[in-house]
Amino acid sequence: MTPEKPITELINPKSNNIDVANPLEIVEILEDCDSEIFKGWQSYPNLYSERIQRNLDNIVEITVNILKNSSKNSIILSGCGTSGRLAFLIARTFNEKLKKLGLTPCCDYLIAGGDIALFTSQESGEDDPINGKDLLIKAGKGKKKVLFIGITCGLSAPFVAGQLDYCMQRLDKFIPVVIGFNPSALARNIIIENWHKTFLNVMEELLSLEGSKKGFIINPVVGPEPITGSSRMKSGTATKLILESIFIAALSRITGQKIIAQLILNSYETVYNDLYSEKQKISKVVKLAGESLKSGGSIYYIGYDSLGIMGMIDASECRPTYGASLDDVRGFLSNGFKNLRNKDGSLSHVGKHFRISIEEFNSDILPYLKSEDLVVLLVKDNEYLPDSNLMSKSCKKVLFVVNDKHDGMLPSNQDVFIHIKVTINSSEIIQLISKPIYEEYKQVYLELATKWFLNSLSTGAHIMKGKVYQNIMIDLKPSNNKLFHRAIHILQNFNGLTAEECIEYLLRSIYEADVLNEDQLTSPIASHIQVAATKNMVIPTALAASLIKCSIKEAKEKIDEEPVLRTVFLQTLKFAKSKYFFAQICENYKPKSIKMYPINYLKV
Ligand code: F6P
Repeated sequence: MTPEKPITELINPKSNNIDVANPLEIVEILEDCDSEIFKGWQSYPNLYSERIQRNLDNIVEITVNILKNSSKNSIILSGCGTSGRLAFLIARTFNEKLKKLGLTPCCDYLIAGGDIALFTSQESGEDDPINGKDLLIKAGKGKKKVLFIGITCGLSAPFVAGQLDYCMQRLDKFIPVVIGFNPSALARNIIIENWHKTFLNVMEELLSLEGSKKGFIINPVVGPEPITGSSRMKSGTATKLILESIFIAALSRITGQKIIAQLILNSYETVYNDLYSEKQKISKVVKLAGESLKSGGSIYYIGYDSLGIMGMIDASECRPTYGASLDDVRGFLSNGFKNLRNKDGSLSHVGKHFRISIEEFNSDILPYLKSEDLVVLLVKDNEYLPDSNLMSKSCKKVLFVVNDKHDGMLPSNQDVFIHIKVTINSSEIIQLISKPIYEEYKQVYLELATKWFLNSLSTGAHIMKGKVYQNIMIDLKPSNNKLFHRAIHILQNFNGLTAEECIEYLLRSIYEADVLNEDQLTSPIASHIQVAATKNMVIPTALAASLIKCSIKEAKEKIDEEPVLRTVFLQTLKFAKSKYFFAQICENYKPKSIKMYPINYLKV
């Protein structure tokens, strides 16, 4: 039976108790959830299903043809949030490979909100299909053929919907592909603000093109996320694997070493085993990271080349996911923007959070490091000799080394660091994809191990800080349409009220008013989001007010009294239970199935 909600928004039963798990158990739960990337979920089509594989093979074929005339054609990858960041990373990687082969680098990326969204969240850009389309038109200008790959894990982003829709009107030039992780029928079916279609409408049209190979949907089901709705995790990982498999398969054909996408996908399972075999050590770092955040410290990732980019991607999602501040988790990259090679070039003038080089870390952060802070170095070999000032600082220090050699590649004289060494079993991968291909693309395996490591670290740290209840992020920022709706469902899950009642509490919290005026009640969601973006603790406040039946001011006071959000939340639930005898509200309350849409009086 198809669930009512998109699978990417469902609660994963495997991680229901992640909030009360110890660091090792947290990593084990994440390992278990990640296994669904390869095993699939229930009886839904997975990565290896016949339709998905057939579509991948067709896309590889198209990619090869595009690349044969790479000076006239292009491949445009596009998405919002982490999906856009992965689009950037993959375009960057494969442009380098094309250059090496003497071909014109023809991979391009688009990200909602532009280049500043590469490492700070710009969630509202996701809601704009017109801007998505305009950017695509600009990027495709002068090109003969364009393979467009839109990434939207939830099959929901209006930014991508506008682009796919445009491609379908120009099939002479564009080949549209969407990557997402829900069955097509569960694509978002809400009218998009200022537009005439829903994502589902776009999907139906795209589906009708598959037979004639003019458009494709790559939508294996990888199961619900370990932290509900946090698509940066499993869906993000699966996105990376799918895109790389397409490009590696296509480039290997061009160099005469034919390899199919499926084998490349298989080869990533080795990295999964190698990384999680170090779970004991990973859990030690999770513990340190949690202690840092709990005691008001920050976490800094410092990484070399694309491992540094993995750090920046991981850090960027902490704000929308956990209501973290931009200083809680930050990423730094060797040679900063020179190395990033983004379209807009250096953005370091935009503000302190855009100063991303290691030199900037050394000047802006290092002198002020406190014992509560955690610095995590991400390296693949002996490439980094940490600044001697860092060695002498009292902060916590971790050295994460990932490579494929068993012999000691750890930098010497680094005993002040907690070491984690992950060794990729290259011979297993070589058996699947051959030595030359592995040697050429080794970097993508190192990145994958780094992604899993960092996702564990930042997720575990925020859980330890009390930002998660059961497996739901209770302090998510309702900063775009999708997140606004997710906020309503979070409230419903815990207070058992109707959608209309939850909307009212949410709006009260956003506008900090116990009585909403006509304007506040009737403005479109886009306006609510704008105001919400400027506020903190919107969902916890709404939740406390709805459970205790108190004013917004009282709810805020309650939250301010207790620094750990999860504790406030538990206390509030207990209080509400004893006071109002809400039978359905108790600590073990399991969310019931909630009808997702429509919410009648919300204007779109
Ligand atoms: O809206 C926020 C967010 O959920 C990010 O966390 C995520 O990376 C982004 O949207 C993209 O979502 P999707 O890939 O489903 O469009």
